[in-house]
Amino acid sequence: MKDPISVLKEKGGSSISPLRWEGGVLRLIDQRLVPYETKWLDLKSWEEVRDAIRDMVVRGAPAIGITAAFGMALCAIGFEGDGGDELLEVLEEAGRGLNDARPTAVNLSWAVKRMLNAAQSAKDAGHSVMEIKGLLEKEAINIWMEDVISNLEMGKFGAQLIKDGSTILTHCNAGALATGGYGTALGVVRYAHFSGKRIKVLADETRPWLQGIRLTAWELLEDGIEVEVICDNAAGFFMKRGEVDCVVVGADRIALNGDVANKIGTYSVAELAKANSIPFYVAAPFSTIDISTRSGEDIPIEERSSIEVTTIKGITLGPENVIARNPVFDVTPNELITAIITDRGILSPPYEDAIERCLRKSS
Ligand code: MRU
Repeated sequence: MKDPISVLKEKGGSSISPLRWEGGVLRLIDQRLVPYETKWLDLKSWEEVRDAIRDMVVRGAPAIGITAAFGMALCAIGFEGDGGDELLEVLEEAGRGLNDARPTAVNLSWAVKRMLNAAQSAKDAGHSVMEIKGLLEKEAINIWMEDVISNLEMGKFGAQLIKDGSTILTHCNAGALATGGYGTALGVVRYAHFSGKRIKVLADETRPWLQGIRLTAWELLEDGIEVEVICDNAAGFFMKRGEVDCVVVGADRIALNGDVANKIGTYSVAELAKANSIPFYVAAPFSTIDISTRSGEDIPIEERSSIEVTTIKGITLGPENVIARNPVFDVTPNELITAIITDRGILSPPYEDAIERCLRKSS
């Protein structure tokens, strides 16, 4: 059986991935240190996986979903009993812990649910605990592989929207590091680039974690794709001067009506794009659409520590004791979104109808 890294090399022309699965150990590149240092952390328990997600060792909606799936597999592998019911209970507890690590991206709870369903079906089919462990390991690898394949598909669909010679503005990092590999928004960029289009990316630096200047710029330069970084507050300047042809961003959760939660600042970029008549595209696997969430108002928005804003590498930026607010996602209303690029094709407004049509086709 092929592994995701060889599929990435063969079909994507880029083998960057934030994770490896080696001999029952989950290896994660510490994204807090990229690009200054390449440090791989070895994780052997679901608790270590939960902490890595919470502490931003791994980030990006699809990547935290895949990581959580391996967390569930590690929980099963570490289980020392021999009762199927007992294993299911332990897995449910791990699932709750993993889900709580970061609340906004639906990919996390989606992957945990899929692992729990796999365990339940295997138990109901009469498999032994030993067999369930093996099946869960396979299911996590499948989730990773499917993500890579869906990114390649999405890249192919999305690249049709990118004209030769375009400058594409992106926000945060929706690239290989945020997924199993290749990326969602940056998958579209990669596909356009590798199919011969001349393109340039303007990457918002993305305060406070700097995913744009650290991760997006690093990935694109690694793959020989032209990129320039801009301050978050410079997007309007470049749009008004006619230097942006389209915006492509990722998503952490898409509501049934097409409202999109993504990195804080995405909403402002979408308003600016609308004001300047620039197409605004969202790229995400179909599994990022949460049909149980009717609109963006129902999406839980994570708020992280004030310290992430008031300090950089331990240096305090403002007056001692100043407090900052740090919501890390915002919601872009569907009316600002020109199209949603998915692995099942390009969705156009009205999104609720488009999503329902897609669901009917696959049932
Ligand atoms: O806080 P992060 O770095 O996990 O936020 C990541 C984003 O907002 C990405 O744009 C989103 O997850 C899409 S990733 C393909």
